[in-house]
Amino acid sequence: MNSPKRLFDKQRIELQFDLAAERYDKLASVQRAMAGDVLQRVVQAELPASTRVVDLGCGTGELLRRLGTAGFSQATGLDLSQKMLDVAARQNPAARFVRGDIESLPLADDSFGLVVSSAAIQWCNAATAASEMFRVLCPGGKAVVGTFADPTLEQWSEAFEQLGLSKRVHPFQSIDQVSQSFDDAGFVNVSSRQVIRSVEFDSVKAMFRSVQRLGAANAMDSRNQRLRRSDYLALVDHFEALLKREGTLGLSYCCVVLEAIKPAS
Ligand SMILES: C[S@@+](CC[C@H](N)C(=O)[O-])C[C@H]1O[C@@H](n2cnc3c(N)ncnc32)[C@H](O)[C@@H]1O
Repeated sequence: MNSPKRLFDKQRIELQFDLAAERYDKLASVQRAMAGDVLQRVVQAELPASTRVVDLGCGTGELLRRLGTAGFSQATGLDLSQKMLDVAARQNPAARFVRGDIESLPLADDSFGLVVSSAAIQWCNAATAASEMFRVLCPGGKAVVGTFADPTLEQWSEAFEQLGLSKRVHPFQSIDQVSQSFDDAGFVNVSSRQVIRSVEFDSVKAMFRSVQRLGAANAMDSRNQRLRRSDYLALVDHFEALLKREGTLGLSYCCVVLEAIKPAS
């Protein structure tokens, strides 16, 4: 069963990624690894190089660049953030770019043989994203989608819980919920794999900044999202104590790659 429709604050997401655009590539190690996972699946699928491909939530265009190297010459990148698209266009002069929302794609029905996306649909309602991917794919087309699932950033969730604070951690869906959204959209042969990746930090400041500077703060559509200063300081104390005890601070990311096919007829 899918959870009720989740509402994301698109303006906030756009602003966060606009602000992150120029420094994104230096910080996005986990996202880079996920893009590698997506690319690997695409290469294994042995699709013709002439396949029209769209990267949804293309960000700074690293996956598009790698797809180009793998031979795909007809590529489109789509993103909500114009600043991310500007960086992507610099790195991919041959690709076409469209500013738009994954949940309401400004793209024609049945127009791509391959839809890819990496580290983006966790900012969307997965069911709506899956339906839109289905719509723009040609019959027989393939979707390869990397996303973060629960228990990503579980160390943050645990900290909020232990401190008795109301949770302001991004509500990641489970791998089963994401897969179900693709089944429900009409896809067949839906399969997914997950790997947990950890990033280690030697200071609390570095850990907080890595999440904030990637534009990855919570962007659910609710008002008064800002963390109160007293709550922020309690979190800092919590992680300082953890760092003293463990000698390092880890953040874990549950990286899922899902593959699905739009039936041929
Ligand atoms: C974490 S970045 C990942 C970028 C890139 N795919 C990568 O692997 O590095 C997430 C990207 O998704 C974009 N994004 C988030 N929600 C979106 C939406 N609803 N429609 C289009 N793009 C969206 C953001 O602007 C951002 O560029």
